[in-house]
Amino acid sequence: MRMSVATKICALLCVFLLYGTPPILQAEKHSLYYIYTALSKPVNLPGVYEFTAMGLLDDTQIDYYNSKEQKKIPKQTWMKEKLQEDYWEKGTQSRKSKEQWFDLNIDILMKRMRHSESDLHVLQWRHGCEVEQQGSELSFSKGISEYAYDGENFIYFDIKESMWVTSVDEALPTKRKWDSVPILNQYTKGYLEKECVDWLNKFREYADEELKQGSPPDVHVFARKSTKTKLKLTCMATGFYPGDVMMTIRKYGTSLPEYEVESTGIRPNHDGSYQMRMSVEINKSEEAEYDCFVSHKSMKEPNITEWRQQETTTESLTASESAYTEEPVLDKESDGRGDVGKASDSSATMFIFSLSLIFHFILIF
Ligand SMILES: *[C@@H]1O[C@H](CO)[C@@H](O)[C@H](O)[C@H]1NC(C)=O
Ligand SMILES: *[C@@H]1O[C@H](CO)[C@@H](O)[C@H](O)[C@H]1NC(C)=O
Repeated sequence: MRMSVATKICALLCVFLLYGTPPILQAEKHSLYYIYTALSKPVNLPGVYEFTAMGLLDDTQIDYYNSKEQKKIPKQTWMKEKLQEDYWEKGTQSRKSKEQWFDLNIDILMKRMRHSESDLHVLQWRHGCEVEQQGSELSFSKGISEYAYDGENFIYFDIKESMWVTSVDEALPTKRKWDSVPILNQYTKGYLEKECVDWLNKFREYADEELKQGSPPDVHVFARKSTKTKLKLTCMATGFYPGDVMMTIRKYGTSLPEYEVESTGIRPNHDGSYQMRMSVEINKSEEAEYDCFVSHKSMKEPNITEWRQQETTTESLTASESAYTEEPVLDKESDGRGDVGKASDSSATMFIFSLSLIFHFILIF
């Protein structure tokens, strides 16, 4: 029986993304999961890649990688601000090598399953940990490392016994192979119980700090020709968190009435921050003083940025505008936070990344 591409993709997303509907909790729980998805061949659907990977902190996406861009990128402002360049560089290397690993292993599995190479197959890996917080005490509650083939569980790691458990007969050779290298199972167990929990706590700390601080908007004002005699003056505020903002375009210090102004409303950026744009048509010859007035709770004083007439450009989309224009995202699942701060964990980061590289080149299905 053949499933359609869409059904398969949905099946796997459903299995992995809708997995953990939160139960009713006594203790506060937090989770950090990484999900890797590889397809056996390219699919001609927009936004669907042969290989994707993402990190999820409490079910909110914090990073992303796909086989087209081949770059691990932050999905929250605080990830971008708090984790240094080398975290993203090593992360990119690690994801690239995992991409190769999946490429190799999906072939091995397809052969073992006697599946035709012309069909689409999907291999997924989900791993991560959960902690429980009781008062100020944090304790490890769950560690998962599991592989699924075509949306069905294939093999998973039993953290108590420190060994792999098969879900289908075809996974037996894999289990034998992987269990025969005890140090790798120790590494997996150690990663889930310790490293993963450390990262989870670190990420939560960063996110909390940023949430408290908030992130102020960058404010830009620019104009472009809209007709022979008119200009479109635009005020853009971006990168702010949380998403409430008060914004107006002012002429001689007085806010223009709403009906004269066109507004995009508040829209999310990819990194979890927000943006908003407002424009107004003005006469070209007009010499009035315009400014953009933005007030946000992260700033004591409002940001008042004046429009400088000489910055008007003749092109319809100017370099200055496109430089400030970050395309907003449509899904609103972001709860990213502000700005400021940094942390250095390079040696630990490097250590973990190099271990995970070794790990993945030995563990072949
Ligand atoms: C307003 O925003 C601009 C651009 O982000 C920045 O350069 C300027 O310092 C800000 N002004 C205030 C008062 O915060
Ligand atoms: C622009 O010019 C037109 C006619 O020249 C005038 O009626 C209109 O009020 C002006 N608009 C603004 C915003 O000054």
